[in-house]
Amino acid sequence: SLPVENVQALASKNLNRIPSRYIRPEVEFDVVSIDESQQIPVIDMSKLDHDAEQKKLHQACKDWGFFQLINHGIADEVIEKMKTDTQEFFNLPLEEKMAYAKIPNYLEGYGQAFVLSEDQKLDWGDMLFLFGLPVSTRDPRFRPTNPPSFGASFDKYSMELHKVMIHLMKLMANNLGTDPEMLASFFEDGIQGIRMNYYPPCAEASKVYGLAPHSDATGLTLLLQVNEVEGLQIKRNEKWVPVKPIPASFIINIGDMMEIMSNGKYKSIEHRAVVNPEKKRLSIAAFHNPNRCTQIGPLPDLMKTNKALYKTVSFQEFMELKMSSKLDGKFMVKKLK
Ligand code: SIN
Ligand code: FE2
Repeated sequence: SLPVENVQALASKNLNRIPSRYIRPEVEFDVVSIDESQQIPVIDMSKLDHDAEQKKLHQACKDWGFFQLINHGIADEVIEKMKTDTQEFFNLPLEEKMAYAKIPNYLEGYGQAFVLSEDQKLDWGDMLFLFGLPVSTRDPRFRPTNPPSFGASFDKYSMELHKVMIHLMKLMANNLGTDPEMLASFFEDGIQGIRMNYYPPCAEASKVYGLAPHSDATGLTLLLQVNEVEGLQIKRNEKWVPVKPIPASFIINIGDMMEIMSNGKYKSIEHRAVVNPEKKRLSIAAFHNPNRCTQIGPLPDLMKTNKALYKTVSFQEFMELKMSSKLDGKFMVKKLK
């Protein structure tokens, strides 16, 4: 990955015209104005022991690939600490943040991901990517020590999200007609990566992406909106639908691996982040992958009555395929069809 200019620093120059490498004229097209019927489903975790809510979850995973989870049971202070410590980290002077900068051949650190060539268009945002789980994947070199509580806040957040993810995996397995314990076992000691996104305001907001269209390569993503500024849009019926985050909820989406494991029943949906002309936006995406020994392919139970719609590859092969490309729509799922 090639190093590129820090976007927060670039934005602070208050340029009227931004460098052409960020300009993407297509951003403004095909965005729908939303009404209730176009909002992603809301799932109430406190009701998920009832059939009706489980059916709603199944429908959301099949039809939308996205839902908002309310009443998830994670304590407010865990989420608040993660939010404030993330904000404080991005508020540090650039030199201090650069102590945690990404370095070649490592995924963790501060900077931008997936910049593979000098002419690749760039996203209007910086990120800090860290592994959460298993604990052995945490590399202290990339973990901020300022604010001092960052590490503790991050670890707590990581654990709590893992629990919610396992709970959802079991329900999804049940809904799909496969063994909940087996599916959960792939994810129990799975790899969790957490990406903290900082999108500065942009004078030409309608012409840049905070994050270009992509689908997530993972099993399940739990996204937290950090401040009140919206920006996530999902692709539905060839149009971009803005998501209105519910305070204290998580926006959850099916990733490519889960689409493949479900043999296409569940959908990994393309999405993107747009930026605001006046306000910065922060979000935190937690990606949940199975463990490294998992074969990525349709679950055996799901092939008893249907033929496999995807190839099966090793976790390693899957990751190599993914890392060899910039974010580009649903390319992973297409490659494995
Ligand atoms: C993501 O796609 O992981 C992040 C989108 C967002 O910032 O809302
Ligand atoms: Fe994403």
